[in-house]
Amino acid sequence: MPNTPTKILLSMTLMGGILISISANSWLGAWMGLEINLMSFIPMMSSQENIFTTEASLKYFIIQALASSTLLFLVLMKTLVNQGLPMSEYVHEYMIMTPLLLKMGAAPMHWWFPSVMEGLSWTNCLLVMTVQKMAPMMLASYLMKSTLVVLIMIGMSVVVGSLGGMNQTSIRKILTYSSINHTGWMLMALLGGSSLWMLYFTIYSLLTTTVTTIAKMYNTSFINQSLMTKGNKSAKYLLFSSLLSLGGLPPFIGFLPKWAVIQTMITNKMSFMMTMMVIMSLATLYFYLRMCYSSFMILHNETKWIIWPHKEEKSLMYSIILASVSLLGLIACTMITNIN
Ligand SMILES: *[C@@H]1O[C@H](CO)[C@@H](O)[C@H](O)[C@H]1NC(C)=O
Repeated sequence: MPNTPTKILLSMTLMGGILISISANSWLGAWMGLEINLMSFIPMMSSQENIFTTEASLKYFIIQALASSTLLFLVLMKTLVNQGLPMSEYVHEYMIMTPLLLKMGAAPMHWWFPSVMEGLSWTNCLLVMTVQKMAPMMLASYLMKSTLVVLIMIGMSVVVGSLGGMNQTSIRKILTYSSINHTGWMLMALLGGSSLWMLYFTIYSLLTTTVTTIAKMYNTSFINQSLMTKGNKSAKYLLFSSLLSLGGLPPFIGFLPKWAVIQTMITNKMSFMMTMMVIMSLATLYFYLRMCYSSFMILHNETKWIIWPHKEEKSLMYSIILASVSLLGLIACTMITNIN
């Protein structure tokens, strides 16, 4: 988290940009917020120690700037429709949505996402996957309608997110594809209203934070590194349960938003789409399991005389607190809804 004055200032303007764009009442204001947000995130990304961050921030800047200028162009074009600008009557709502989908990395426009994520530090990965999606999604919610184009984009996000992660060995890439998948589900949640989306987004952010925190703490980037050579059994189980939660398995909190989205889709008579999304999520639990497989099976060595490694107690506390929300969350939610 931010520890220098520059970073504190930049995170303030980053949040400020998001707030400006989600509370703007004109598209120009929304665009301005997005731009402030981008301009504060770019300097946060690059660091002196790691040369890959420069490449990643450059790629990110180019893509986001392209999206912002397209958004500005389309919005102006739509405004000029009354003045008889040629072609301007062809600017549809889903066209304005396209640059927003590019910004959040939904499926047909996701190609920049994995390679940018590969060069970033864990904290910045977390920001790209969660906070940076907030403003584009809120703006997209103004334009959401269940048209064919939107449904195709959601379907592609779910399919790409599920199949894309299959052959990856980098944890960053796996989380990226999981993020693309959840973007698809979140867009579907937007069709059901913004409170459903808020629920999904909150829980998704929480779970991604848990997994990123554990990966950062044990400094693991690839699945064969498997945090467990340090003999820390509890961290193993915490990572395992958080991943299952991210995959939407019933006893965990990750199931709650998935359940709500499925319910909404059934009431809106989108059963074909729902079947496809559920089958995709079932088939691809595989790569979440694969992340834990090696640490549970191959690299599992039991050292009888070290039961609780004393060095890492504090960092383990964080992951226990974070992961217990995902373990006990669904039970807590059920209890809260049944009280009244
Ligand atoms: C995609 O999201 C759904 C809903 O949360 C989840 O069940 C599924 O496991 C996810 N798949 C991947 C690959 O992340």
